[in-house]
Amino acid sequence: MRVFLTGATGFVGKEVLKELLTAGHQVVCLVRPQSYRKLMDVKGDVEVCKGTIFHLPAIEKGMKNCQAVIHLVGIIRPFYWRGITYQKYHILGTQNIITAAIRNRIRRFILMSALGVEKKPLTPYLKSKRKMEEMVIKNGFNYTIFRPSLIFGTGDQFINLFRSLMEKYLLSFVPIVGDGKYLFQPVSVVDVARAFVRSLNRATALGKIYELAGAERVSMSALIDRIACSTGNKKKFKLHIPVWMTYPTAQLLHQFPWFPVSPEQIKMLTGGNVAQNWQKTVRDLDLQLLSIYKYLEESGSENEAKTMVFNVRKPVRSKVF
Ligand SMILES: NC(=O)c1ccc[n+]([C@@H]2O[C@H](COP(=O)([O-])OP(=O)(O)OC[C@H]3O[C@@H](n4cnc5c(N)ncnc54)[C@H](OP(=O)(O)O)[C@@H]3O)[C@@H](O)[C@H]2O)c1
Repeated sequence: MRVFLTGATGFVGKEVLKELLTAGHQVVCLVRPQSYRKLMDVKGDVEVCKGTIFHLPAIEKGMKNCQAVIHLVGIIRPFYWRGITYQKYHILGTQNIITAAIRNRIRRFILMSALGVEKKPLTPYLKSKRKMEEMVIKNGFNYTIFRPSLIFGTGDQFINLFRSLMEKYLLSFVPIVGDGKYLFQPVSVVDVARAFVRSLNRATALGKIYELAGAERVSMSALIDRIACSTGNKKKFKLHIPVWMTYPTAQLLHQFPWFPVSPEQIKMLTGGNVAQNWQKTVRDLDLQLLSIYKYLEESGSENEAKTMVFNVRKPVRSKVF
């Protein structure tokens, strides 16, 4: 199948691209001109469509002869002074992808959403993800929507942040927002990519909204202990910062990219993030979820692969919906 992919140079996108090529699909990647070099080493049936999600003519041209769209581009945190907002990246950007898909008569649309979009009240991030879902559904595509929990794997921003605090900065303590008892269900980026690619030509996945979550529910405190063990350290002292204390600092500093969290992220983090129906996704798409514990045991930040390794098969015929 010829697939139009957005966000291919990102953390999740790299893995989705690898999985698409491994499954024998042809891929057209929408890539920002300044990020073109990130795909230079990729071997396989890949074409690059230079442009951004705001360049409708480029997207429309790039989608020619594609049979499916996988739309991953998203932001987790807005930077208003740089014009990076949810309205622009999630709503306007998605509208452009939808418009180009409609003009190219593409029926199959796979969307990256996020776990928690059914919660009330919604944070601005989740509200915009919810709106993206509604836009795709409303336009009559043969859609599959994925709502992943926190995603871990090579190059993730979350586990690597704590790893570098422990390894690079040699901190003898780890700051934790709140009591650390809030739960996550982190899912491997490899499982996320497999789910996206397997859903492409499975009739069971049509019109479905799938939660994607890992095999274990872990508390923030337990996760920190495991990360510490994986870096060869003993348990670290955890410095619990009361949630109410973190808000004003985050409010003041979150527009600086070096500051690790925004008030909205603190809210989402401490509110927990676990799935209810992830087993259906596992069944429908034959996933074998990778354990976060196993991943942490087997990977250290220094031995994480820095390059993209591809195992490209010959193109296969796939069913187009
Ligand atoms: N990571 C998680 O734990 C997680 C959990 C749930 C949902 N998600 C969702 O998964 C998606 C991907 O997340 P990620 O962690 O892979 O993010 P990421 O690493 O930041 O990747 C973002 C991708 O989008 C591209 N991009 C950004 N702005 C663009 C624009 N204007 N035009 C075209 N491409 C643009 C980036 O390209 P450049 O290389 O040019 O920057 C990059 O390829 C997002 O929608 C996110 O909300 C992520």
